[in-house]
Amino acid sequence: MSISKASKAGQFKIGDFEINRFGFGAMRIVGKGTWGEPEDRAEVKRTLQRLPELGINFIDTADSYGPDVSEELIRDALHPYSASMLIATKAGLTRQGPDQWAPVGRPEYLIQQVHKSLRNLKVDVIDLWQLHRIDGQVPQDEQFDAVKSMVKGGLIKNVGLSEVSTSQIEAAQKYFKVVTVQNRYNLVDRAHEDVLDYCEKNGIGFIPWFPLAAGSLAKKGSVLDQIASRHTVAPSAVALAWILRRSPVMLPIPGTGKVAHLEENLAAVGVELTDAEFAELDVAGKAA
Ligand SMILES: NC(=O)c1ccc[n+]([C@@H]2O[C@H](COP(=O)([O-])OP(=O)(O)OC[C@H]3O[C@@H](n4cnc5c(N)ncnc54)[C@H](OP(=O)(O)O)[C@@H]3O)[C@@H](O)[C@H]2O)c1
Repeated sequence: MSISKASKAGQFKIGDFEINRFGFGAMRIVGKGTWGEPEDRAEVKRTLQRLPELGINFIDTADSYGPDVSEELIRDALHPYSASMLIATKAGLTRQGPDQWAPVGRPEYLIQQVHKSLRNLKVDVIDLWQLHRIDGQVPQDEQFDAVKSMVKGGLIKNVGLSEVSTSQIEAAQKYFKVVTVQNRYNLVDRAHEDVLDYCEKNGIGFIPWFPLAAGSLAKKGSVLDQIASRHTVAPSAVALAWILRRSPVMLPIPGTGKVAHLEENLAAVGVELTDAEFAELDVAGKAA
């Protein structure tokens, strides 16, 4: 079987970067519950080092994955980074233990975390930094103003948001240009269709997190399973192919700590769904 290359997914511009529209999510390279060291550090390193070989030049991580562990593993496996590699990180969520997350958006905390990410990733500037959550207990404008100050101060080049509505994107645009939005989205979770449409209309990259979730749709004999057999790929590749085709601003970042899964998922870029297959998956996803 020939291995697919990410460039086949098409490209998208984020600031000065032209990235391939098939990225990598680095939340799954740490321990269980997104906490601590990974079980198999050597396999994680192999997975990260396989990314540039496969043409994947967009990695999504966060200060809170580990915490710190994901950023440090990326640095250890890939630094010095190739000029075409865009590493996006985030802050705004704190950790109290495995599977526990709490937003903190106080300006001094956000600024501290950006300084820590610069050190962890060993870079002079964060090429894409995302506000992981808007903290409901801190005035929104204070959080946006802190981000603006970091852009002005040269710590951050491009800014993205995560789990936001269209009105929150518009409020943030008064402080800085929003280049990406990262919201939960997959074949069976379509709650953010309006945000996706807004992003497409305004040329903002939409990063769907949890892109592989297909729930009951992934079961043997399901529409997804049948289409996957027809194209001789894994169901995950069909779920991703559907996402890629849904919009030209879609930038999927499936996550794994395993080389074999990475390659299986990347097969999505070679899957050409027919109009009928695309429509069938759309209907099945909405009904699931
Ligand atoms: N902004 C946010 O609030 C937010 C929230 C969650 C995630 N994210 C970002 O989005 C990225 C993707 O989301 P996600 O990791 O939650 O979900 P995902 O990419 O949809 O799914 C990842 C899970 O699927 C498994 N997997 C991957 N490929 C597979 C394959 N071919 N066959 C079988 N299992 C496979 C992985 O385990 P293995 O390691 O065993 O392959 C992992 O458990 C994250 O890495 C992170 O960067 C952002």
